Amino acid sequence: MSSYRVQVLVGAQWGDEGKGRVVDVLARDIDVVVRFQGGANAGHTVVAGGRKHVFHLLPSGMLYPNRICIIGNGLVVDPEQLSNEIDELDPKPESIGTRLVVSYGAHIVMPYHKKLDLLAERARSDRGSSVIGTTGRGIGPCYVDKYNRSGIRAEDLVSRDILEKKLRDNLDEKNKIFEKIYDSEPFDFDELFKQALGWGEFLAPYLGDSTLEIDASLSAGKRVLFEGAQATLLDIDHGTYPFVTSSSCVSGGASIGGALGPGRFDRVIGVVKAYCTRVGEGPFPTEDLGETGEHLRQKGAEFGATTGRPRRCGWLDLVALNYAVKVNGMDTIALTKLDVLSGLSEIKVCAAYEIDGQKRSVFPSSAAIIGGARPIYSGLKGWDADISACRKFGDLPTEAREYVRFIEESTSVRVGLIGVGPGREDTVSIDF
Ligand code: GDP
Ligand code: IMO
Ligand code: MG
Repeated sequence: MSSYRVQVLVGAQWGDEGKGRVVDVLARDIDVVVRFQGGANAGHTVVAGGRKHVFHLLPSGMLYPNRICIIGNGLVVDPEQLSNEIDELDPKPESIGTRLVVSYGAHIVMPYHKKLDLLAERARSDRGSSVIGTTGRGIGPCYVDKYNRSGIRAEDLVSRDILEKKLRDNLDEKNKIFEKIYDSEPFDFDELFKQALGWGEFLAPYLGDSTLEIDASLSAGKRVLFEGAQATLLDIDHGTYPFVTSSSCVSGGASIGGALGPGRFDRVIGVVKAYCTRVGEGPFPTEDLGETGEHLRQKGAEFGATTGRPRRCGWLDLVALNYAVKVNGMDTIALTKLDVLSGLSEIKVCAAYEIDGQKRSVFPSSAAIIGGARPIYSGLKGWDADISACRKFGDLPTEAREYVRFIEESTSVRVGLIGVGPGREDTVSIDF
């Protein structure tokens, strides 16, 4: 068991690095898991006991009995999705009623947010602007309302009068947008109000003050893990804007969306896939549109856990990774999917970009500039052996160890855990 009491786990690339499975590994020794941003755009896969679970809103620590799981104030919660997710969990986690806390300050994704998300994407496409390729889960429009101070929070769903007023105000504005801008059907107030009251009834047993809950847990000597969704390069401030999500996915986001002062975090874990993937639009310098990309997609089963979309694939990008190391203050790397690289005679890594004829080894955090970056690769020797049964670092073939060491040297960050398969036990733990 590691000595870290308060940890933050973030995605270091463009999402789907295997955050869910690493949280599940850590949750063995953790008491409280807190999701701190995003919404049901996330798809976090945990394979345990031969069963696959995909978490969208529930923290990935849910499978362990007795763990407190918190949906923090930084999230945008689709109550219907959450209800389905709880219903579909099989086997049903014990005492979920007392283990799950939904912050009363989390914002609610309403059906009009999802509709706005889709219509905005369609409009971008119609006018020839770049589409983002969102998940269609209403994330952007819900955060817009949050920051516009017109959003509906979880607490409002259990307060009939406040809900009625807020919903009226929102529909008044949104229905004008649907009718006048999008030439689309408005929402019926009575129907939506009734639905929203039902969501309130469903959420009521879980609602709580996540700030106090986390503080009380720490005072009681409990261990807390903050689980990030999406990833550094999808972060609203630090990602490849505008091809990003609408929340703060970097480690700093845990302070705000999870409610704990920055000085209290003991360790930041960056989850890094042994190669790169991206879903949706936006720059991706190492994307491989040929055989290698297709090989990684098939061997790594790179299809979205939320939308089923094929993920774009390519080699590991150390320029982008070093940026993620800095932005997050990363202390440790959890390196996933190393097994997917088995069988390749050569493994490439991007050590620098060529931009406008100049070599650059620093990530330019501007989508416009990254769009013109050409990767400059170094080649490392691959290995043939199936590594999925390896459990100790010394069990790995020399070339696989060299690949790990190369990543450590290039980033100056220690690799503490290596994923060699999707299952809970399929890990090489070095000192995690
Ligand atoms: P997340 O969004 O970061 O939690 O990642 P996803 O769950 O969307 O995608 C990661 C995928 O890789 C899932 O299908 C996992 O089961 C799988 N996975 C995670 N770690 C490993 C690993 O070390 N090896 C292999 N082969 N698959 C892994
Ligand atoms: P996890 O937590 C990968 C991408 C979408 C799109 C952009 C904006 O499973 O790693 P949004 O619906 O958030 O407005 O879409 O962000 N995206 C993800 N890509 N993994 C995710 O989550 C993602 N969540 C959003 O594809 O490009
Ligand atoms: Mg995912």
